[in-house]
Amino acid sequence: MSSYDVVIIGGGPGGYNAAIRAGQLGLSVACVEGRETLGGTCLNVGCIPSKALLHASELYEAASGEAFAKLGIEVTPTLNLDQMMKQKNESVMALTKGIEFLFRKYKVEWIKGWGRIAGPGTVIVTDASGVETELLAKDIIIATGSEPTPLPGVEIDNKRILDSTGALSLAQVPKHLVVIGAGVIGLELGSVWRRLGAQVTVVEFLDHVAHGSDLEAGKTLHRSLSRQGMNFKLSSKVTSAITSETGVSLSVEPAAGGQAEVIEADYVLVSIGRRPFTRGLGLETVGLALDKRGMLENKDYRTAAEGIWVIGDVTSGPMLAHKAEDEASVCVERIAGKAGEIDYNLIPNVIYTRPELASVGKTEEQLKAEGRAYKVGKFPFSANSRAKVNHETEGFAKVLADERTDEILGVHLVGPSVSEMIGEFCVAMEFAASSEDVALTSHPHPTRSEALRQAAMSVIGLPTQS
Ligand code: FAD
Ligand code: NAI
Repeated sequence: MSSYDVVIIGGGPGGYNAAIRAGQLGLSVACVEGRETLGGTCLNVGCIPSKALLHASELYEAASGEAFAKLGIEVTPTLNLDQMMKQKNESVMALTKGIEFLFRKYKVEWIKGWGRIAGPGTVIVTDASGVETELLAKDIIIATGSEPTPLPGVEIDNKRILDSTGALSLAQVPKHLVVIGAGVIGLELGSVWRRLGAQVTVVEFLDHVAHGSDLEAGKTLHRSLSRQGMNFKLSSKVTSAITSETGVSLSVEPAAGGQAEVIEADYVLVSIGRRPFTRGLGLETVGLALDKRGMLENKDYRTAAEGIWVIGDVTSGPMLAHKAEDEASVCVERIAGKAGEIDYNLIPNVIYTRPELASVGKTEEQLKAEGRAYKVGKFPFSANSRAKVNHETEGFAKVLADERTDEILGVHLVGPSVSEMIGEFCVAMEFAASSEDVALTSHPHPTRSEALRQAAMSVIGLPTQS
């Protein structure tokens, strides 16, 4: 039996960041993780492998199509899918090993196995060979993450009907991939396989893609992806699937009900959301229950049970790695008696397609619903010099600012590489900047980031470049 200040269950971005911060603050800490490698969904089967494939497939498409030819580079690329997957797996492995290194550096003990709470201050870990170890802790942090939401009638077998993990490791390019759900996973992984040669049909229940995004930004992304050849069936739902050795027959109906049609695919990706993962966690031993959505509620990261905390995908808020990471630091700092806060309005969102959609703060729809008076400054990348010389002029930067005070309330960017630029506005908004503050700030020329400054200038109608 070993005793710690903090025991963390789960080694994803929530769990590993919490463990590292606890080690940095001098707490004795163990992190329980049942996977073979640390890093959770994000490093193993989420953010990292998906971005590795997005990057590689983007270059493949650029080399295959008009983009390279236009620059005077004439090549005929050949797809080596095995190598593309291998380099993805190598990046994943290197990054998970990096977490092991950080654990050693900050004296975090990795307890390998699946943990369950066995009463206040007690966690029992069962390792791969079934051996149990009891850990005692002053504080326990639950960071067990999430899993794909299943779709009744469309059973995931990861042979023909895939979840995101299956879609990240296919051994061949699908002929026809049907994606169920035009959310983040559907658009990102649909893009990967379309770029590599698949015909892709996305079936979405709602009448728009990228739900939750600023509507204008989402529509722009929708148009771009359609132009690239992704086929969308909006306001539609899949009601059943029949799988054979070679493919899947899907029954698809209008969302409001009506005549069904059959769509044939060789692979199907189910990406209709994720749900908190708490199976076998022993919550009942400390009197904890899940809410109606299967979520473990928190108040300032505390659960209703004394000494048990919760962070990341398994609790409320957006299911994002950087949200889990933010909560990890603040939660551990609170355990250590320090102060910490997160402004959930300022957690950025990115869809890593091409063009990307990156945003922070409120959408126009949210501001309208709140009855908040706001001004809009918008600047198209087609008027930005760097975008023009790169022949990448799709999209825009949009800044929403309070009509009276000029405080920036929301920023929505659509375009290549905007994921790398949204951080500027996260910082500005953390400091309650006005659009004028950004408009008066020098930006390097020639860069795409100048479009952000021009959008801020456009809030008062005075962009200097359009
Ligand atoms: P997780 O990363 O899910 O980690 C939880 C860990 O706990 C897992 O390793 C699990 O094995 C372990 N665990 C669970 N129960 C137990 C137990 N009882 N005992 C021991 N261990 C246990 N987010 C972004 O911000 N950007 C992206 O680009 C992005 N891309 C994504 C792409 C895909 C395909 C997917 C699926 C997700 C993506 N996400 C992305 C979301 C991101 O992966 C999650 O928000 C993030 O991983 C949540 O971190 P977490 O620590 O809460 O949970
Ligand atoms: P999602 O919530 O982003 O999108 C799911 C979509 O499926 C929605 O548009 C919904 O209307 C639709 N849908 C639901 N039921 C349906 C049905 N029966 N038929 C047709 N459509 C249906 O969920 P997704 O894409 O699975 O991703 C899960 C989460 O993972 C994301 O919400 C995000 O938190 C995280 N993620 C983040 C990424 C990023 O930050 N770039 C990348 C990938 C995942």
